[in-house]
Amino acid sequence: MNIIKHIAAVLATLITLNVSAQTIQAPKDFLWGVASAAYQVEGAYQADGKGESKWDFLTNKVGVTQYIIGQKQTGNVAINMYDRTQYLKDIQLMKELGVNCYRFSIAWSRIIPQGVGAVNEKGIAHYHQLIKDIKDAGIEPVVTLYHFDLPQALVEKGGWLNPESVQWYKNYADVIFKNFGTEVKKFITFNEPYIEFFLVDYMLNSTQSKMPANLRYANEINNVHHMLLANAEATKLYHSLNLGGMIGITFNLSPCLPFDPNNAEDVKAAPLQDELLNRIVLDPVFKGSYPANAFALIQKYNPSFQPSAADMQFIAANKPDFLGINFYAPAQVKHDDDAPMGVSWMGNNTDAIQMTNGPVRPDELYNLLMRIKNEYGNIPTIITENGASFNNNEDSVVDGKVNDVLRADYIRRHIDAALKAQHDGANLKGYIVWSGWDNFEWVFGFTKRFGLIYVDFNTQQRIPKQSYYVYQSILQQQIK
Ligand code: NOJ
Repeated sequence: MNIIKHIAAVLATLITLNVSAQTIQAPKDFLWGVASAAYQVEGAYQADGKGESKWDFLTNKVGVTQYIIGQKQTGNVAINMYDRTQYLKDIQLMKELGVNCYRFSIAWSRIIPQGVGAVNEKGIAHYHQLIKDIKDAGIEPVVTLYHFDLPQALVEKGGWLNPESVQWYKNYADVIFKNFGTEVKKFITFNEPYIEFFLVDYMLNSTQSKMPANLRYANEINNVHHMLLANAEATKLYHSLNLGGMIGITFNLSPCLPFDPNNAEDVKAAPLQDELLNRIVLDPVFKGSYPANAFALIQKYNPSFQPSAADMQFIAANKPDFLGINFYAPAQVKHDDDAPMGVSWMGNNTDAIQMTNGPVRPDELYNLLMRIKNEYGNIPTIITENGASFNNNEDSVVDGKVNDVLRADYIRRHIDAALKAQHDGANLKGYIVWSGWDNFEWVFGFTKRFGLIYVDFNTQQRIPKQSYYVYQSILQQQIK
């Protein structure tokens, strides 16, 4: 009897999987890809005239990973993808995987080493070659202009707190569009402003600044605001050049759920966290205003933050052509008097097996895409990152293989949820896995693996994992 029940359960699972990714077919022009970012994969941190970036400085001079993992690690070599011999092999792996797009970022400090001023022709030549090689393999480049790596020379001028940052970025974007605008048809201005400022910058500043936490937190809005203005400037510029492509911006978005649904304070904290985490970037860009409660709280601690009506109009008047969504997990929100603004989500995770970026809830990706449809005018969206890293050692090599069943299952179920939302009317145009390869995970260094392809960080050997083959078989069904 038990065996029969067991077989029935297995069959039910198989049927569920069948009904999922396999039966809903994405539209023909749907983008399927993998992603990376310059600092996390390139290495060659001083090659060909590259300037120092914020992350070169943080890892080499501050030794930032030591505070988190107890060891100094850097992206000086990373996974060696600046090297053409190496990246040609990686492009071949992408080709065998079957993706039709590759999202990567350009390092500003390779293009304009001091952030402003002289352009480095060797940097330009490198990315021309890379883009050509990607396209020659039949893969569309999706290019992020900025993925956390401000040139250090600009950090020293105040970074994104300096209102001039808007012009610095516009100038950089102009160089990018003029050089690559005919080859690249999808650009992303920025990656995850929330994470850069309210999470990482805020955390790093805590070691240097004596300011109370809420004040430091509220100050981060100045960075965000300048970044949103820079986004609008670059978008306007891109549109004026009539290059025939699309430009978007990528936000990390996490539906906010109360950590304990029976705790009234957590229930109340969830919508506030939603404003502070999601709407703080979505609303200005798509609705022309900051969300009221978050705005009031931020102004309480940072009264000088008074964005002008002209700024807000400018941001909303120059909307992106698509929204990039990085989705990993929902936020399980707690009321927490010790956390900035009295709410916390990072590190809250009720799952038994812990995924680094939160609890595994594919339904929340569905809900998120439907929310964008219903509340943000159903603008075109691309899932620019979705992926997983688990704390259960599933990424170890056994007999030359990596059997990452949890990641494979995660990806399959999230594709499912995404296609279901698309089927139900969400304007979804693509799905991109983070990441193609294990790489340098910021303050965690090389201790968190997100890749479909295992990388031996000492030898640079690549081993496609189980999740690579699962994604490959989904792509074979989807791209015909
Ligand atoms: C989002 C970031 O864009 C990426 O750089 C990071 O590695 C992944 N999340 C995984 O945490």
